[in-house]
Amino acid sequence: MIFISLLSAVTPVFVQTGKDLLLEVKEPVVLNEGDFFTWNVNGSDNAVRLVHGGKLNISSNYKSRVEFSAQNHSLLLKNVQKRDSGVHRALVSGDKDITVAEYSVTVLDPVSGVKLTVKLCSSDSTKVTVICSTEDSLISNTFTCDTQTCSHEEGTPGASLDIYLENGSVICNHSNQVSSKTDIQKIEDLCKKPEGKS
Ligand SMILES: *[C@@H]1O[C@H](CO)[C@@H](O)[C@H](O)[C@H]1NC(C)=O
Ligand SMILES: *[C@@H]1O[C@H](CO)[C@@H](O)[C@H](O)[C@H]1NC(C)=O
Ligand SMILES: *[C@@H]1O[C@H](CO)[C@@H](O)[C@H](O)[C@H]1NC(C)=O
Ligand SMILES: *[C@@H]1O[C@H](CO)[C@@H](O)[C@H](O)[C@H]1NC(C)=O
Ligand SMILES: *[C@@H]1O[C@H](CO)[C@@H](O)[C@H](O)[C@H]1NC(C)=O
Repeated sequence: MIFISLLSAVTPVFVQTGKDLLLEVKEPVVLNEGDFFTWNVNGSDNAVRLVHGGKLNISSNYKSRVEFSAQNHSLLLKNVQKRDSGVHRALVSGDKDITVAEYSVTVLDPVSGVKLTVKLCSSDSTKVTVICSTEDSLISNTFTCDTQTCSHEEGTPGASLDIYLENGSVICNHSNQVSSKTDIQKIEDLCKKPEGKS
């Protein structure tokens, strides 16, 4: 017999280090005699087990940092750390395992700050080449902007650094799925700076 499970799709979740994460079970969970409910991590660790009759067992790794709702089976993971990344699956196990919720969790640090520095200004200050780099200078991208657009010149491959124009200002934006930091400067101000050469 072919078993077709009504799997809910895996939900990707991004969360910032140190925040709390609520993993919800959106469908009703019914435990018949002999069934049990688990929150499983990475296919190996059973963080929470609940048997028919309501007896709850939270594994020692999770005991001090989760809250489980016996009412709706949601799991609150407190103060998440990068090692909490992974697949978190809620299962009802009887004759078969039935997945009732599944999350692919990624824990990320917030991005570091950024700064814009001028490399070159046109003599009429309408065109500027700037470097958008992180404060720790680990990654940077170089862009040339006129009053209409910015075009990418060179930089760290895959860097999450972008530049765009708004109201005659250049905005350098460093972002990931959980945070963003920006440096905003007017093109004309950038060109006024002493390091800007014409
Ligand atoms: C939880 O399960 C462990 C291992 O099966 C067992 O030693 C422990 O007594 C159980 N705790 C509770 C509160 O049922
Ligand atoms: C489940 O219960 C938790 C804790 O009481 C609550 O924060 C959460 O909103 C509830 N979720 C749903 C889907 O009812
Ligand atoms: C789950 O697996 C990923 C990838 O192997 C690992 O980085 C992560 O720490 C694991 N999560 C837990 C909670 O064990
Ligand atoms: C750009 O100008 C508009 C209209 O004056 C204003 O609403 C908006 O906040 C400005 N954006 C920035 C980044 O200054
Ligand atoms: C920076 O980029 C991110 C991702 O594209 C976006 O969500 C965020 O709103 C941007 N920040 C500003 C200040 O424009």
